[in-house]
Amino acid sequence: MSSELEEYDHVRSKEQILNGEAPVGFVVSPTSTKVCNFAVFDYADEYVYEGQLLTIKHGGVKIIGLVTSLNAATRGATTDVLNYFSSIYGEIPQLEQNLKYGELRIYGKPAGPGVASITHPPKPCSPIYVASREDYRLLFKDPSREDEYFEIGRIRETDYPVEVDASAILRLGVGIFARIGMGKSVTAACFLVGLSSLSKKINVLVWDHTGEYATGNLGELCSRFEVLQSSELPVVPTDPSDLVKLLMLDVLPSQARKAVEVAADLFMMDFLAGEVGLDSKVFMNYVNDWLKEFYSKDQSSRTWSAAIEKRIRMLGSSFFNGSSIDEYSKVWRLVANRILVVDASQDSLEARQAKLGTIADLILKRRLPIHLVIDEAKNYIPETGGAYSQVLVGKPFLCLGKITSLSEEGRKFGANLTIINQRISRISKAVFSNLCTLFCGCLTAASDIGAIEGYTDFPEIKGILPRLGVGEFLVAGMATPIREPVCVSIDKGDIKLGYGRKTVFELHEEFAEGVARPEPS
Ligand SMILES: Nc1ncnc2c1ncn2[C@@H]1O[C@H](COP(=O)(O)OP(=O)(O)O)[C@@H](O)[C@H]1O
Ligand SMILES: [Mg+2]
Repeated sequence: MSSELEEYDHVRSKEQILNGEAPVGFVVSPTSTKVCNFAVFDYADEYVYEGQLLTIKHGGVKIIGLVTSLNAATRGATTDVLNYFSSIYGEIPQLEQNLKYGELRIYGKPAGPGVASITHPPKPCSPIYVASREDYRLLFKDPSREDEYFEIGRIRETDYPVEVDASAILRLGVGIFARIGMGKSVTAACFLVGLSSLSKKINVLVWDHTGEYATGNLGELCSRFEVLQSSELPVVPTDPSDLVKLLMLDVLPSQARKAVEVAADLFMMDFLAGEVGLDSKVFMNYVNDWLKEFYSKDQSSRTWSAAIEKRIRMLGSSFFNGSSIDEYSKVWRLVANRILVVDASQDSLEARQAKLGTIADLILKRRLPIHLVIDEAKNYIPETGGAYSQVLVGKPFLCLGKITSLSEEGRKFGANLTIINQRISRISKAVFSNLCTLFCGCLTAASDIGAIEGYTDFPEIKGILPRLGVGEFLVAGMATPIREPVCVSIDKGDIKLGYGRKTVFELHEEFAEGVARPEPS
């Protein structure tokens, strides 16, 4: 009798199963180098689940793979496979077993870091084990860059730590997507704590749309943490076309509009170089010069000049406010070697869009190696095509193009983005397609699952995503050495974000008491 079969003879202890000493099942045919079917023994039923890593031992080689589906089988199939199993080994271990059947997506041989692909498919009836702590360590970490990783949680339902590669996160960008309340912001906060724990100097700017990062307890958990109110930053245009659009000068007839556009171009160049302030009189000087140029032969330049000046008086007060681009140098000072949270919750949506646009634009123009984290990203980088253009809010044109350019070009000089949103299909495809690591929690909308399928080349994922719980994410991409998803439970630790501190009843009560009126007696 095969020595492999002896191992199946008696029920094993939990420790043996979880340590990868006792098999949980065996390979059933057919097999390939990419995928194989397997059966799970009765006694190991509770230790095997979708999204788990298992190893196959095959001819002295260890192969690692991910469970992509798992189903109870009919009795007929059970008997068939056990008969097949017995025809190979001459004996059936326990005929009355309720086997489960699953599919294993084969990654390959652990290669520290990552995996090497296999050349021969595993033999049917090779035993399958729960992957051990050592297997995970080999997969996740490049030993030569020991100090560039931080821990974010555990492989789901095990105590194996999952470490992510900080250099891939900072340089290549991350997306965190899940339905509301499934733990996206906590996951982002977990990154911040992890990044600040590294022994390296890094510059991370969190654009805090709702104020939850600023008002939570991250100050206690992150070393080198800073909060800035976005209201301390002025709204400044960084793009001539923003200026023209905001002042609604784009409706002028073509001659006058051209003059204004040229003037705005030149004014903006000088403004960004710090040579002129946001002063409407100065801007009008530029405009008048060019009106004269365009209407040299008649008197209409004066008429247009008066009309434009009136328009600027009506619409321009909010940003011809004398402020200068240099006021953003406060941001660079604070973010240097720190986690800087910019609390934007007190600003109007348009002001938030304009300010984040300015930050993204300056990061790009000045080639600043800053990692920018944007939660509630649909407000800043909405998908503008198709049906979604009807649900755009505020003036996303103030930041969309700038953030898109940053996502395309930032990596050259060490800048990139972490994008957090509920829906994948509602954010700009151009930005989404640049994110090199994805954390996907519970998603149910077909369009979101479709987007993930496209990204990962991993069709089986749609069965796993809708069933993930709070704080559970499938992680795929460059920040983990295996380029295919693993299922991670994020460790929330002591993290408390702003609104997480109060229960829904406390929030309701606060409001109810705030607008107190006599209770009916
Ligand atoms: N990893 C986690 N472990 C346990 N609970 C979590 C975890 N992540 C989030 N939660 C809980 O879920 C709530 C919502 O999390 P949050 O990150 O704000 O969700 P989202 O940003 O996806 O809407 C938190 O207040 C917290 O109590
Ligand atoms: Mg959130």
